[in-house]
Amino acid sequence: MERELKFPQDFLWGTAVSAYQVEGGINCDWSTPHQKIGGGPAGKACDHYNLYEQDFDLMEKLNLNAFRFSIEWSRIEPEPGKFNQKEIEHYRKYLKSLKARGITTMVTLHHFTNPIWLAKMGGWTNKKVVFYFSRFSCRMLEEYKDLVDFWLTINEPMIYNGLVYFQERWPDARNNIDLLWANAKKNPSIIEKRQSLLSRIKKYLLQAKKLVSVTKVLRNQILAHKKVYQEFHNLKPGVKVSTANNNSFFEPFNEGSVLDRFSVFLADYFWNRYFLNKIKNHLDFIGLNYYFHNKIKFPFQIKNDNKIVSDLGWEIYPKGIYYVLKDLKKYNLPVHITENGVADKQDKLRQDFIKHHLRWVWQAIEEGVNVKGYFHWSLIDNFEWDLGFEPGFGLCEMDYQTMERKIRPSAYFYAKIAKENAIYLLS
Ligand code: BGC
Repeated sequence: MERELKFPQDFLWGTAVSAYQVEGGINCDWSTPHQKIGGGPAGKACDHYNLYEQDFDLMEKLNLNAFRFSIEWSRIEPEPGKFNQKEIEHYRKYLKSLKARGITTMVTLHHFTNPIWLAKMGGWTNKKVVFYFSRFSCRMLEEYKDLVDFWLTINEPMIYNGLVYFQERWPDARNNIDLLWANAKKNPSIIEKRQSLLSRIKKYLLQAKKLVSVTKVLRNQILAHKKVYQEFHNLKPGVKVSTANNNSFFEPFNEGSVLDRFSVFLADYFWNRYFLNKIKNHLDFIGLNYYFHNKIKFPFQIKNDNKIVSDLGWEIYPKGIYYVLKDLKKYNLPVHITENGVADKQDKLRQDFIKHHLRWVWQAIEEGVNVKGYFHWSLIDNFEWDLGFEPGFGLCEMDYQTMERKIRPSAYFYAKIAKENAIYLLS
């Protein structure tokens, strides 16, 4: 027999993208020339910048009533303090079109990319970023306050910190690692040299330097979020502001091991709680990006069962979203699932992925978690950072030559859920 699992009235069924991943661009740190290993600059990506109406048509066709996207800071403010009116009008048109279609809008103000001028100043390690980011954000609020329903200041602060730790952004990190190995293969003495005492000391000093950067970035992200939250509420009482956090479900590899449990405690504390706890009095809702379940063996070895994995080898573990949601209940705030999705070019996994994750979202709602919306990552295939255009996270497939979008079968499955506001399970 089939069991109907109904979602709350007014539930938001959406998708999510970020500007650089679908629009590309020329003025941000990801668009500067660097050696093409893995990704490389996105060029014009899916040309969503020009073809956004087509993408909005897709959303309508798929019965979606919400959309999360980001405004590219480097387009709006290509030089410090110089705001580009043409770009401001571009995003106004964009937002107006969404509103005309009755779509709820959620805007991210920082989704990994920085204007080049900011990157040159040290990016988020420089404490001036707090002022610059809030100036940009407040301008966005002034311009679009009647067109935006939800604001997210920063996407995945902890993941971004990972990028800083690996030399402030992924392309450089990958280049350095790959070049190191390429050289090492050519000249084995490099490997020996790396192990010499001097190089070990250098390595530790570099690690220490990177850790200092992470601490600075974290501090500035927290300050920037709080400042923007405060200023937004002064400018527009009732505004809804949050961040999108990549919280994972951690389990001990061996339940009986005190050390494994201790590692889980630490991972959970630093990865899932630290940032949220710092800003918990400056949030109107919680944004959750759920992708990962990790079984941890002391000290921090990940040992997953990996029964089902995506094209990227990421384990698919739908029940994890339930545990993470239950854990967020203590903040006593509405929750939006601001990202959840799978790299699956052949579209073999996505339908079940969506069904099973939503089954556990439903369960969390049943048990009192106030989940208000689900934004699937992503509407269309796009530029997946260091991995370039290879992974396919889209409900719609992209042909990057012709810029044609093709709806995948799993998208129709999601469209049916959105229409019926329910999923059906065999019981
Ligand atoms: C990021 C996206 C990314 C997705 C899939 C999230 O961490 O916000 O930009 O494309 O994961 O890797």
